[in-house]
Amino acid sequence: MSNTTRIQARSSHTMRLERLPVLIFDDPAQMARQVARKVANLIQDRAVTGRMAVLGLPTGSTPIGVYRELVRMHQEEGLDFSNVITFNLDEYYPMKPDALQSYHRFMEENLFKNVNISRKNIHIPRGDIAREEVDTHCDEYEWQIKKAGGIDLMLLGIGRSGHIGFNEPGSRRDDRTRMVVLDEVTRRDAAGDFFEEKNVPREAITMGVGSILECREIILMATGEHKGHIIRKAVEEEPNSSVTASFLQEHLHCAFYVDRASASELTREKTPWIVGDVSWNAEMARKAVVWLAKKIKKPILHLETADFHHHHMHDLVNAHGTADELTYKVFMELRDRIKYQPELPKKKSCICFSPHPDDDVISMGGMLGKLAQNKNDVAVAYMTNGSVAVFDMDVERHLRFLEMSARLHGGADGEARIKAFTRPIFDFITHKKPGQIDTAEIQQLKAYIRYTEAIAGIEVMGLHEKDARFLDMPFYKTGEVKKAPIGEDDVQIVLDLFNERKPDHIYVAGDLSDPHGTHRMCYTAIKRALEKYNQQEGVKKPLVWLYRGAWQEWEIEKADIFLPMSKADLSQKIDAIYKHESQKDRALFPGSDAREFWERARDRNVGLAREMDALGLPEFYAAEAYVTCHEMP
Ligand code: F6R
Repeated sequence: MSNTTRIQARSSHTMRLERLPVLIFDDPAQMARQVARKVANLIQDRAVTGRMAVLGLPTGSTPIGVYRELVRMHQEEGLDFSNVITFNLDEYYPMKPDALQSYHRFMEENLFKNVNISRKNIHIPRGDIAREEVDTHCDEYEWQIKKAGGIDLMLLGIGRSGHIGFNEPGSRRDDRTRMVVLDEVTRRDAAGDFFEEKNVPREAITMGVGSILECREIILMATGEHKGHIIRKAVEEEPNSSVTASFLQEHLHCAFYVDRASASELTREKTPWIVGDVSWNAEMARKAVVWLAKKIKKPILHLETADFHHHHMHDLVNAHGTADELTYKVFMELRDRIKYQPELPKKKSCICFSPHPDDDVISMGGMLGKLAQNKNDVAVAYMTNGSVAVFDMDVERHLRFLEMSARLHGGADGEARIKAFTRPIFDFITHKKPGQIDTAEIQQLKAYIRYTEAIAGIEVMGLHEKDARFLDMPFYKTGEVKKAPIGEDDVQIVLDLFNERKPDHIYVAGDLSDPHGTHRMCYTAIKRALEKYNQQEGVKKPLVWLYRGAWQEWEIEKADIFLPMSKADLSQKIDAIYKHESQKDRALFPGSDAREFWERARDRNVGLAREMDALGLPEFYAAEAYVTCHEMP
């Protein structure tokens, strides 16, 4: 994979399919910088002529990088916000402005308090007004936008329901600012921020699609594979009210800025040969052959010349001589990627990085088992403590255990001593308001619950307590779902581990779509530490194995290694996942998927084996897939 940043615009063929301009970025950070630069240019252009710059702003995880960059430009380059007026898209209803999940608070923390914008120029719909005042408030909001001369540049995110602002499926093209009922998908996606779905408000106030389309210029941003399907619909399907972002196609100055992950379902990315000439290198040929075999449901070695011709792939066959030569080559390449236990690392130093204390067994449980059997020296490095995802009732259960054990150990005295510690905690939990941050003590107890589960999990895989390393990285410890950026202290912790263990192999979560971006941040910390480590003299670069998490598996054509798993291997892995009891039955962050983590892992691993079987490769009970590299992309 290329390590350089590429921005890719559309070819003329693509333009026929993509109904508005889409810029694809390899690096989401570069995308954020480019959007921030556009905002800064607008502000500065307006300042030259003594005019105000009017911005429309979203909240959510997507624009955070842009806000960070704008703050940096203000602090380091003196970008002046005194001529800026802002209108935010939306706010939950009901919602107090200082509540943890309020968009007022989000904007304050992520942008406004860090730049010199005048308070009177900030507009955000209010979630704390009486219901009977909402209509007037919405009319007033629209009027304020008109009074400011309309919005010059609107930044948007996109929800998995296809919403822009909170214009959920069914919204109309000419809707204005109003109260709306939130879609189920949106409420589920917000569950993490509210610590439980039942706490997520059912309503919100949002600018309408009509209000958005009146902005002079619009940029919609998206990152992560989980946005892939909706981006394709918004870009390639006719405008329709079930994907409100598709209405943006009607705007003359609207562009989508997306990272490669969220572009992955666009035709030009998924099946580029359909929209234009491609260079048929080995990777592209593999992708095309696997796609064709799946599409017409034939094993690779059954594909014939006519199959390729019927799908306009003459040039692919020509480039390889005959269809038989091509299919044989692809088949052998895939077959050679299957690695049985004797071909896996033996007696080596390995570090398995697990963003949360359970990703290790969920995503690479099969590999952990084989690494242990091959007598490798394995350290499982849990990067965050996962405390945010533990329910209060689990803390209470553990405290009761503590009280009972104290009775056993120290009699009535022991019990009294421990109760002096536990009872105030019970008290806090009883009076805790929805969404309130836990005390540092409770956060730590929640971390311990996850640590004990993690140890039990790796023991099932044949590893030991001493093999678990809890890095407890600082960026995660905000007590909230919102995380701090990766800092030098985070990178140093990983670098120290590299220097201590001098690993031959490292295993890293390469899935960049977990709902709150923690995996992406852990990845960044490892990447930065690895770059530093590899530059040190006399260091042997470790081989990096990228695994994917609970949300998806590597595509067959992309995987470098397939690890076959027997039925027994899979049940051992599932047993290990069961040990993460606090995440079972109703995990806090299940995303949109109602299945438990062990079910997702099972379906993914069995599903991959079935896919391989259908392609005519050896038939396994289950399999895991990995991508390997020396430099992290
Ligand atoms: C928030 C908003 C929403 C978000 C969308 C994506 O103000 O208007 O439309 O942009 O839900 O959210 P993230 O970026 O968190 O995936």
